[in-house]
Amino acid sequence: MIKPYFKSKDKKFYLLQGDTFDLLPKINHKFDMVFADPPYFLSNNGLTIQNGKIVSVNKGKWDKSKGFDYVNKFNRKWLKLIRERMKDDATIWISGTTHNIFSIGQILNELDYKILNIITWQKTNPPPNFSRRYFTHSTEQIIWARKHKSVPHYYNYDLMKQLNGNKQMKDVWTLPAIAKWEKSCKKHPTQKPLSILTRIVLASTKPNAWILDPFTGSSTTGIAANLANRRFLGIDKEKEFLEISKCRKIEIENEKNAENYRNKIHGFNNKKEFGNYIKAEPKPKKKIALGFCRKKDISNLTKTNKFYFHAIENNNLVQDFPLEIFDAEYLYTYQGGRGKIFFLTGHFGKIKNIKQVHKSKIKGKEKSKTEFYWEVVLNNNFKFDNRIIKELKINKLFNNNDINKKFIKKYLPAIVEKNKIIQLLLLNTL
Ligand SMILES: C[S@@+](CC[C@H](N)C(=O)[O-])C[C@H]1O[C@@H](n2cnc3c(N)ncnc32)[C@H](O)[C@@H]1O
Repeated sequence: MIKPYFKSKDKKFYLLQGDTFDLLPKINHKFDMVFADPPYFLSNNGLTIQNGKIVSVNKGKWDKSKGFDYVNKFNRKWLKLIRERMKDDATIWISGTTHNIFSIGQILNELDYKILNIITWQKTNPPPNFSRRYFTHSTEQIIWARKHKSVPHYYNYDLMKQLNGNKQMKDVWTLPAIAKWEKSCKKHPTQKPLSILTRIVLASTKPNAWILDPFTGSSTTGIAANLANRRFLGIDKEKEFLEISKCRKIEIENEKNAENYRNKIHGFNNKKEFGNYIKAEPKPKKKIALGFCRKKDISNLTKTNKFYFHAIENNNLVQDFPLEIFDAEYLYTYQGGRGKIFFLTGHFGKIKNIKQVHKSKIKGKEKSKTEFYWEVVLNNNFKFDNRIIKELKINKLFNNNDINKKFIKKYLPAIVEKNKIIQLLLLNTL
């Protein structure tokens, strides 16, 4: 199992260290949105001007220009892997310049993504052109695409219009490059401004959404996500950059700093608009965890407030990555399956805490084939209500592509919306 490089206390910010190509297949989770700022492959030993000084354009080894074939292969490989990690209605944003953006556009089409927009980020403060043989390079492109041609995506039309003086938001965004206050944890060589990422997050996700960045650098995506009450997983090869990411997250764990940053981010009509907007957003839907309970253990449930789920039996998975399990408010137990009907046993309880525990630490499970379990602690002992002994109609609870549908068939913890269970209980009592 892979241990996260960093997991925040609020479990809303995860970092993995390693090659994104190795790690993406090892994450058993589907995301609502992806932002990727991949290497542009523009480090060709050229020169530019920064703060009035002539400097090299080189960003680091990871950005070395290696020719079109290499760039195409690289982009095809990660865009294929990332599609597998996206929910069916998820969207992806990819930033670039002339060095990589044509390759990205071509491959998105090749892989059946649907391109929605090509945003032009017009920088208000670009460096002058050093050679004086070109127009000043003052823009970057950001392609917005969705996973499927036929599955609709989410677009926060009203907010975008509000941010644009009550006129439809256009695909040209005029925003400054990164400000001094964004470099408080040491700067990443290609750090994106929070104003761009905040607009992206708010335009394409709902509260609590999971956002993935496969080339996270200093995790501007994650900071924007958390400032907007969304959750985040970022991957980078370089420890140095992950340390910047971690420092930035720790900074905003202090609510005063977070509020201060929200006030400073460009792209809003006034200082308080970002903070006020997220306060007014609807709260996420409540979730219930369904846990399989063996027949012989059922009578003991009301004597305990602890329950163990099998964590997934696959050595490759990222240890302790949430799989939506931390969204659950209540635990209900079920039996059945393998040709028999699935049904709720009538036992339930409010969840106090969930964590992953090694079998060696659990009495009676030391010899189990499963290495890790989810330990669920309830506020009180399990309650029992025989009106809740009901058949679980799997097709009504989950849609076909819901990963939870597969989990329940393997007797793994599955997460379901609370109102779906309520509907089911009412229907069955009619
Ligand atoms: C353009 S930067 C991202 C900057 C980021 N958007 C920010 O605001 O800080 C790209 C990052 O991808 C990382 N990277 C490049 N190739 C990688 C790979 N194969 N696996 C993981 N990380 C990689 C680099 O270390 C670099 O930090």
